[in-house]
Amino acid sequence: MNKNLLIVILSLSFLWLACEKPQQPMSVSIIPQPNKVLISPGEIIVEKPLRIVCAKESQNNATYLSDVFAKHTDVAVPIEFGEAQNKGQFFDIYLSLGSADEAVGAEGYQLAIGEDGIHIQALHSPGIFYGIQSLLQMLPAGFFDINTPTPTLSFPVISIHDSPRFTYRGMHLDVGRHMFSVSFIKKYIDMLAIYKYNNFHWHLTEDQGWRIEIKKYPLLTEVGSVREQTLIGHGGRPPFTYDGQSYGGFYTQEEIKEIVQYATERHINVIPEIELPGHSLAALAAYPELACTEGPFEVATRWGVFEDIYCSKDEVFVFLENVLAEVIELFPSKYIHIGGDEAPKKRWEHCPDCQKRIKEEGLKDEHELQSYFIQRIEKYLNSKGRQIIGWDEILEGGLAPNATVMSWRGEEGGIAAAKQGHDAIMTPGSHCYFDHYQANPETEPLAIGGYTSLKKVYNYRPIPRELNPEEAKHILGAQGNVWTEYMKTSDHVQYMVLPRMAALAEVNWTHRENKNWKHFQNKIQQHFLRYNALGYNYSKGSYKVAIKTEPTENGTYWISMETEIPNASIAYTLDGEHPGLATSIYDGKFEVNQSVAIKAIVLENGVTMGLLSGQSITFHKAKGMVPAVKPMPSKSFAGGDVSVFTDGLLGSDNFRDGNWLGFSGEDVEINIEFEVPVQAKHAQLRFFQSHPQWVFLPLKWHMEVVGESDTTQLEGALADLPEIQINESSILEKIIDLPEASIKSLKITITSPKKCPDWHRGAGQDAWIFIDEI
Ligand code: ACM
Ligand code: ZN
Repeated sequence: MNKNLLIVILSLSFLWLACEKPQQPMSVSIIPQPNKVLISPGEIIVEKPLRIVCAKESQNNATYLSDVFAKHTDVAVPIEFGEAQNKGQFFDIYLSLGSADEAVGAEGYQLAIGEDGIHIQALHSPGIFYGIQSLLQMLPAGFFDINTPTPTLSFPVISIHDSPRFTYRGMHLDVGRHMFSVSFIKKYIDMLAIYKYNNFHWHLTEDQGWRIEIKKYPLLTEVGSVREQTLIGHGGRPPFTYDGQSYGGFYTQEEIKEIVQYATERHINVIPEIELPGHSLAALAAYPELACTEGPFEVATRWGVFEDIYCSKDEVFVFLENVLAEVIELFPSKYIHIGGDEAPKKRWEHCPDCQKRIKEEGLKDEHELQSYFIQRIEKYLNSKGRQIIGWDEILEGGLAPNATVMSWRGEEGGIAAAKQGHDAIMTPGSHCYFDHYQANPETEPLAIGGYTSLKKVYNYRPIPRELNPEEAKHILGAQGNVWTEYMKTSDHVQYMVLPRMAALAEVNWTHRENKNWKHFQNKIQQHFLRYNALGYNYSKGSYKVAIKTEPTENGTYWISMETEIPNASIAYTLDGEHPGLATSIYDGKFEVNQSVAIKAIVLENGVTMGLLSGQSITFHKAKGMVPAVKPMPSKSFAGGDVSVFTDGLLGSDNFRDGNWLGFSGEDVEINIEFEVPVQAKHAQLRFFQSHPQWVFLPLKWHMEVVGESDTTQLEGALADLPEIQINESSILEKIIDLPEASIKSLKITITSPKKCPDWHRGAGQDAWIFIDEI
């Protein structure tokens, strides 16, 4: 709609509002936010039965809409093809294909609701579908609850003109680590459809299981789809514990066709991923002759990266081309994902076949061999009219000519690809890995690690600043990745993706100027009600209270609290007790001038929401001293600000909380000079440990205590935490008795293990240590 016209209508509406009986426009909670919405005062109350009117070519979309009503409500919505008959008897939903404003483009739509019915217009079929999704989101949540009587329908007087910001809007699902039923895959696709995603990236092969039937190679599923048992918990280090249960499953080609068809009806393209050359242990277990060494191999029973990968000899390419020939018969997708990530080169370095290949092809090293491998597969797929997508490692050793890069190790891969004129899809671990925690790990089910809150996902910007406008056109969109090592059930998968996939949907669909976090927070509450009605499992991580501390000039702290839930009531305590109903209710910021252990939780309708937050503050004698630190800590944590060591705020069990300082692969020296000598009984050092996140305890500490008359040397080892804690995040608090003296300064030396130990999956790479508070 023309902007001036919009303003005229808006002013007219307000004028009308001012002169007539006061009537508020109804609010709507559409996610992703449509790019242009005009809501007029008034309400359309639907007293007649609904009916869909459309031309035959919209039959697919019409049936979808009618089926949604049939499945979730007790309302039957008939479809009338062609001219509407008996007009007065129905409230009609018109689906008009090919009649919209040119500006809506390939996937956009217009939607208008008035007394004369509901009109959805689009140039192409996906647009009609997206219009339908926006319409469905205007129905009250109770409408989708099959157990409650259907409420009378009412709609706002609304006009929407909408089209997506990005052409690639993806969600991924790993079925290699854990397998999910056909009916759940369909449910997942339904969730994608609600949020206007158009690509489902289906990760079908892994070290821990091959999940797609390939007729020519029956052992891939007979052998490769079953693992003998599965690691319990996080793994950490040996001895590993296993569940002793065989685990397996795969999708038959018939099931795959059914799923592709189901997705196609929802305008979702399914991109299969066949991992190569790495993450291929399950295939090697089935066909050991495809490896560099003899084997035998076992389908992996624990997580990580494995050294046995496909060899680069000719018979491997024959195998892969035969597999891909069946894959492209099943998946009409333009893109086929070929993996390419995390392929250790150790076997290739020692394999005569691979070394021969390097020599014959004039390759520099094993990275160029990987590039050769990918390019050869690309050539095959291009010859069949398909394009490859690969994880960003496919940049190493030279990018295949037509490849699209999926940037996961940060955004660098996407930036490099775009600068080389290649398309890229953004899926950085920092914002798009939905296997990360979304709230305090203390209160969440086990996850791989990380911390990616709803707000963080919402604020993701897929176009990096490093790209100029021409290069930026190569960023096709963003994708949420769901790796399922720690998701054994479909309920857990839902929990990890909801509501974060709603936030990412708005990143992909809505132009930046139309996004608004506060508005989204309000809308997501309505979606929670819908999840309840649909029986979807979702995280209430956004209920978590953020406790903010702000230092004052006289050394005290202002404490303020907020949550991602608008107008939430927050209960808190200052003595470390669990806040219940009888404790204080937060009503604005307050000051603390003595040591406290704050605990806070959201109350909703008088019930605590179960996600506890904590922040301890200690008023100790080194508080406020700024230590000299060598080397400087990583800027990635707390901005590398060394005053964090002595600010009185204790680091929590999330080392990204802004209170921990991290050092990678180095010993650390910390010097604290007191302006006036102090008397102190103890010093305390705090360290963080999380092996899955490459964070280790230091080996030892040394403290030089400089008194007014003499200097004392103290030292000790830091034993690892007890066995039961090693797989989880843990904090070690080391209390050190000090000599009776007036202390002028403390010089603390912390000895780092520097490298991850042999048993760790990062063996030989830099180990992190995290310290706070001193
Ligand atoms: C990946 O997370 N290995 C792509
Ligand atoms: Zn080899």
